[in-house]
Amino acid sequence: MYYFDNNATTKLTYGVLKRIEEYMSTSFANASSSHSLGQIVREETDEVREIIADYIKCSPVEIIFTSGASESNNFIIKGIASKLKQVNFTSNELPVIISNKAEHSSVTKQLDYLSTIGFNIKYLNLKNDGSIDYNELKELIDKNTILVTIQHSNSETGTIHDIEKIGNICKNHNIFFHSDITQAFKFFNYDVTKLNVDALSFSAHKINGPKGIGAVFLRKKTPIIPLIHGGEQEFNMRAGTLNSIGIIGFGEAVKELIDNRVDRVNYVKGLRDYFESRILSEFSSSKTHINGNITNRMPNTSNISFIGVSNDSLLYRLNKNEIYVSAGSACTSGSIQKSTSLVAMKLPDDIVSSAIRFSFSFENTKEEIDSTLPIIYKEINSILDI
Ligand SMILES: Cc1ncc(COP(=O)(O)O)c(C=O)c1O
Repeated sequence: MYYFDNNATTKLTYGVLKRIEEYMSTSFANASSSHSLGQIVREETDEVREIIADYIKCSPVEIIFTSGASESNNFIIKGIASKLKQVNFTSNELPVIISNKAEHSSVTKQLDYLSTIGFNIKYLNLKNDGSIDYNELKELIDKNTILVTIQHSNSETGTIHDIEKIGNICKNHNIFFHSDITQAFKFFNYDVTKLNVDALSFSAHKINGPKGIGAVFLRKKTPIIPLIHGGEQEFNMRAGTLNSIGIIGFGEAVKELIDNRVDRVNYVKGLRDYFESRILSEFSSSKTHINGNITNRMPNTSNISFIGVSNDSLLYRLNKNEIYVSAGSACTSGSIQKSTSLVAMKLPDDIVSSAIRFSFSFENTKEEIDSTLPIIYKEINSILDI
């Protein structure tokens, strides 16, 4: 089988799998228990907290474990927005949050909800290549703006936003800035001592770690109300018994990432560029369209529209050949919904309805691409002939 859907999720590396297996067979105590078995688990999970904190250059107390990036996004946005509304606004003033419509649904649907309970949500326009206009951001900010939430990179097209620039704009206006770095985390070297960012969300399963574990970076003294109330875990910020197995796997994945990040980035970019050059030499430029900002996007992502080829049909045919890719977002019934990002980029319908996302990993090979391309060509041509 050929797995080119690494923006949806990634496979555990052998090292992460081994570490989890080993850990599961020896450790089971509750990190909050006061006996020594619990203390050992607490120390082990705190070591992971330190590894992540060192990696992004923050203090360990600024790392809070969650169940994944959806929870991280909900915790940060709802938590900061509701605290600031409580403290700074009268009942008839609407605090403003600025974002864009190509964020992950755990941001956009959350913002839809917040708009029903007394928040004013403003969206930046996206250019056709998915990038934003930083001057528009400055223009949208007013005295009621409390929070800007903009992802570092888009999961569907890979388009990257300049979070340093956004952070500086927010800092100049005294506004909190959150970025969902779930997709970008494995490609960039973050240094929060230099970035004007108050909170970051990320998740282990996008970096070859386990599912169901993620984290936030939350800068000290950021006003926030917890999302999950209960026990005193995570500095009183996130109640619930720590997912110690998940955290250990997350830690192993981050260690491997730290050791290999630059090599992985160069390798996967080479693969993606090779794949695109082969596609572009097979089909004329009027039959294909690469979506996203091609000079500023994640190195592993290729979102291509094959004009006249419905992505539903192509996905179905590739799936039958055990080539796993994605298009738009799969809804619970398994059928394809239009990509919210491509729609937000105001691309014409023939581009949106024919877009397929190939997202590679450092575990993919050129041989895999060479083996799948003839199948991809054949299926495209047979759809076009129908
Ligand atoms: C940009 C982005 N944010 C958030 C999420 C949600 O992550 P999780 O599955 O860990 O909740 C995803 C997952 O697809 C994503 O791509």
